Amino acid sequence: MSVVRLRRLRRTPALRSLVREHRLHVEQLVQPLFVVERDAAAGPIGAMPGIDRLTLPGAVREARELCALGIRAVLLFGIPAHKDATGSSNADPNGIVQRTIRAIKDALPEMIVIADLCACEYTDHGHCGVLDERGGVDNDATVRLLAQVARTYADSGVDVIAPSDMMDGRVEAIRCALDAHGFAETAILAYSAKYASAFYGPFREAAESTPQFGDRRSYQMDPPNVREALREIATDIEEGADAIMIKPGLPYLDVLRAARDAFDVPIAAYNVSGEYAMLKAAIANGWLEERAVDETLVAFVRAGADVVITYFAKEWASRNR
Ligand code: PBG
Repeated sequence: MSVVRLRRLRRTPALRSLVREHRLHVEQLVQPLFVVERDAAAGPIGAMPGIDRLTLPGAVREARELCALGIRAVLLFGIPAHKDATGSSNADPNGIVQRTIRAIKDALPEMIVIADLCACEYTDHGHCGVLDERGGVDNDATVRLLAQVARTYADSGVDVIAPSDMMDGRVEAIRCALDAHGFAETAILAYSAKYASAFYGPFREAAESTPQFGDRRSYQMDPPNVREALREIATDIEEGADAIMIKPGLPYLDVLRAARDAFDVPIAAYNVSGEYAMLKAAIANGWLEERAVDETLVAFVRAGADVVITYFAKEWASRNR
């Protein structure tokens, strides 16, 4: 019989808690919010029970509730009233995201407001940028648009800009545009390793951003690749990213771990809409217990995430007060 008995420290809740290696803190959580410009578009999202598309006042109310639960950060997605081929409503200084940033910062100056930066919610074709003659996404024209939009977000008082388009060179272009216009303090959280994933399905319903033709594989990453993710991250850091993101979360925990081991910047994991939908559906059916959520969220911390972006933020914070 071995003298080593690992079970000794598992005997009581207090002992287990004493030697616990990783913990999720409410301060690490980011709650994504969908804000609609047309009030009539507000309401529940079918595949994301518990998550609503919010009006602007609804988003401010939600931010107050999150704040009361100790959540420090929100990630904004806008659903504009008007979409066109070039995503022009995205750069409107009075666009839905710009107005929501101002309203939340006014009501709750301490709340960290992060704005997702991507044209897909604003283009009528649903791609993440401006198209060229052949129907592909024009990298450099898109980067110019993103830099312009980033300035309007910064001007509205956003704390962090999170480009999720996967164009090359966008972090540098955004950084330069911000610095040139007096926004040296606005941070960039780059969606560096963002994969062309099937797990974004419910989000695209929520944001009305499903591509009208083709898919996103010519700009988002190929799921089997990990070395390429490290190159994307290294490039974004060189270009001035303050923090980087791995997305989706659960199917890419190995990428998160590889990034953690290779880089010292803060890393965010995005527990995306499809991951939320899976757990919610299984829990609603009684097939899984609710603690599957806690187990999932702590896995991101164990794999090396500093920040966890998740639709579960609010419910986790309410259950763990
Ligand atoms: C915008 C964007 C997407 C998500 C975040 N930003 C959709 C996509 O790339 O198709 C997905 C988030 C989620 O699924 O929760 N480009």
